This record gives sequence, C-alpha cells and structure tokens, in this order.
Amino acid sequence: MGTVIHERFRSTLPADDDHPYRTGAWRPQSVEYTATSMPTTGRVPDDLNGVYLRNTENPLHPNIERYHPFDGDGMIHAMSFANGVAEYRNRFVRTAGLAIEAEAGGSQWSGLAEAPAKAPRTDGWGARTRMKDASSTDIVVHGGLALSSFYQCGDLYQLDPRTLADLGRASWNGAFPSAGVSAHTKTDENAGELLFFNYETNAPYMHYGVVNDRHELVHYVPIELPGPRLPHDMAFTKNYAILNDCPLFWDPDLITRGVYATKWHPEMPTRFAIVPRRGQPHEVRWFEADPTYVLHWINAYETHDHEGEWVVLDGFFQYDPSPSVPPDADLNTRMFRFLDLYAMDSRPYRWRFNLTTGETREGPLSDDVTEFGMINNSFAGRDYRYYYSVVPTPGCFQFDGIVRHDLHTGSTETYLFGEGVFGSETVMAPRPNATSEDDGYLITFVSDVNADRSECLVFDAQGVAEGPICRIELPERISSGTHACWSSAV
Ligand SMILES: [Fe+2]
Repeated sequence: MGTVIHERFRSTLPADDDHPYRTGAWRPQSVEYTATSMPTTGRVPDDLNGVYLRNTENPLHPNIERYHPFDGDGMIHAMSFANGVAEYRNRFVRTAGLAIEAEAGGSQWSGLAEAPAKAPRTDGWGARTRMKDASSTDIVVHGGLALSSFYQCGDLYQLDPRTLADLGRASWNGAFPSAGVSAHTKTDENAGELLFFNYETNAPYMHYGVVNDRHELVHYVPIELPGPRLPHDMAFTKNYAILNDCPLFWDPDLITRGVYATKWHPEMPTRFAIVPRRGQPHEVRWFEADPTYVLHWINAYETHDHEGEWVVLDGFFQYDPSPSVPPDADLNTRMFRFLDLYAMDSRPYRWRFNLTTGETREGPLSDDVTEFGMINNSFAGRDYRYYYSVVPTPGCFQFDGIVRHDLHTGSTETYLFGEGVFGSETVMAPRPNATSEDDGYLITFVSDVNADRSECLVFDAQGVAEGPICRIELPERISSGTHACWSSAV
C-alpha cells in the first residue's frame, strides 16, 4: 500500500477510553492519510468513476462532562475511483471550532448532552446556540464542491471532492444565512440546485432556501412554525420542497432557563409543509398526519390519478420516538435510547398528500426495522423503484448490514457484514450510461473490530445478497460515521 501521512492531530482522549461511542466501531482517529495501491480483493470496476464521501463524528478531546457521538469533529473519508484505480483520503473538516480547540488543548463548547452554561466560551453555533459547529453530520457534492454540514445548523464547509482540500466556508456572495444551514441539504442533479433549511429557537423558527449551481442564494423564505422544532431532514419533488414539524421538540419553557430537553407529544399531529420550490410563505400548504418523529426521508415525487394531484413521500416512521427506560436507568442508557433504531421502532413508511383535496393517506412500506435509506440520486424527486438501507445493530448506533428494497415487488435482499463488522450509509453509484435505475454499484466503508481493520466494499447494486465484488483495504481502521454521498461529477 502506498500510504502518505498528510497530518497528525493531537488527541487528548484518554488512552484507556471506555466510552461506548469512542471505542469499538466508534474508535476515533487522529491521523490523516492519502493511500494508493491498497490491497484489493476482486477488481475495482473500470466503469466506476467518481468519489464516495462519508462524514464521521471523530472527536479529538474529551467533552466537558459527557460525550454524545454527535459531538465529534467532522472527518471526511473519501474513496475516489477512476478507470479501475482507487485512491483513499481522510481529512478533518477544518472548522473554526477545531482550530480553537487545538489551540486551547481541549473542548471549548458544550455538547448535545451538556448544559450550554458549562462551556468556557459563550459564543458558538447551532440552533441550540453555544455549540461547536463540528460539521460532522452530512456531506453532499454541489456545483463542484463537497459541502459538509452539522445537524444543529452551522456553516457549510467546502472541500475539493477528490482531494478533500479545505476551500473554506460557503458565503454565497455574503448571503449565507445568519441562522446557518442544517444538515441534509438536498441536491437535485436534474435542476442543478441545492435545497436547504435551517431552524432556530426564535420566530419564525425555520427557513427554506435554494442555491444555484454557481453557489448563489436564489431563494430564501421563512416557514413559520408554532414554536421551536427539531427537524432533521427535508425532501423534495420536481416542483415542491417538503418541510416537517414533528411533535418531538425542545420544551419551550425549559429553553428560557437554558435547558434543552426534548419532549414527545403523542397528542399532536405530525405536520408537513409543501411549498413550491420557489414559493412564498403564503403558498405553503400544511398537511397533518399521525404523530411520529422522522429522522430521514428516502425520496418524494409527484403523481396524479382520478382523485387528483398527489405528493408521495417515503421515509422512516418511528413508532416509538421516545422509548421509555427503567426508572433506575443510568445516564448513558437514558441518553443513548435515542440512538437505538429498534427501540424507536423505525420502519419504512409512505405518506401521500392530495394537493387537490388536502387529504393525507399514510401507511407502512415494510415491517422491518431499518433507516438511512439511499437511492440512485438521479431519481431524487422522481418516481423511483429502489432504495438501499441499513440493518441497525440492536441497542447501538451501528449498522450490521445493508438491504436493497424493491418498491414494485416489496421484496428485499440483505447482506450482513459479519460478526464484529460494522458498515455505514451505503451509496448507489450509477454506471455511466446506466440502462436502468439499479444499474450500478453500492459502496460502503466497514470497520472490522475483531481484525482491527477497515475496508471499502463495492457491490453490484443488482446482486447485494451475493456480497461485495471488490474489497479495498484502508490504511487504518476508521470510526463509524453517519452520512455519505456519491458524486460522479469529479
Ligand atoms: Fe441525518
């Protein structure tokens, strides 16, 4: 393997760390590598051209009091493919917070499970305010730039998608919103647009916007909510953006005392805002549905029948968004119950909104617990047939395998990585000149805790259960992470 160390970072984490989300599959790294000629089983497909990017929560310092895995510093892992040759890089996102904490030698902002008042610094980012913008949640490629983002809203950090060179924060010619941008910006390859939202604790509580392929903010409107909410993801169709108001949100009375505690309101509906993609606030149409919390949407599209015009939205319905814990449960059990997709009973689900009548219809797509659905992104916002999700690890925010779902037949194909091997969000890379929606490859990173190594796995998207057609070894075992994307445009 041709491995070059790009940079070493100073970690102040304890050598005998026993935190469940800083050990095992979540063990963070402090070294950045560029690797070529990696040991490979099988053959890198000649027609796989582009880059697989994955963001990772990768902490360098202990938290002030208690670490939540969403607090870790953003690290991007990239496997680029060109003409049968693969190259790997991992780089920290050069956030302002990373630099300040490196200088200070430790955490300067409180994390998700800590009170903001505990932080040494009084500035910060995030809808909650006084957090570090770790830029560790999501990554997309838009207009030739990789953009990493943070679930609590923050900057969009720009990187070269192939080399991961730091290209600074997005400014959108000075129009970047002061409230920041949430993770789960959406790229519409067909329109060349980036759609985004943000949320905050002050009215109107949410905004929605559109950026063109020249990185210009061309649309930005308030989406008025009844109070502070915690939206995590959005969806879009060819003509509409879909925002959500789920009844799991910070207790507004506690916010005034500086406490950010989520509360589930099963008596309230889930509300959906359907707005024309360049629509004004008065054009927002609200639809109500059964109470739930949705972490991630899969896709959405428009259709019509004799009953009128419909917007179809697929995502993962949580049947128990706020799992109960025993009264004597320890802090970790309380804190991490929101990371157990089985406890939250997260399953594929379809909502249908009739734009003609205002009616909502909804129901399950599958009885299997799963999440993190990915599609062939050229079908985003369009009627589609296939999505690819993960098999969660019971009781833990890790993934044991991948599932290919066929919406036309209802059939699934599953591949499990094996005992002690954990994967990540699995992207679909269409073959050039693909002849069908599923003509392409699935790509993921796995970490084998037993063998202490990581690989990049490539599957034929039409033969998931047959296992990977190619395995590429990485220089060092990488941490579990969350969101990923594929870009052929590099
Ligand atoms: Fe997410």
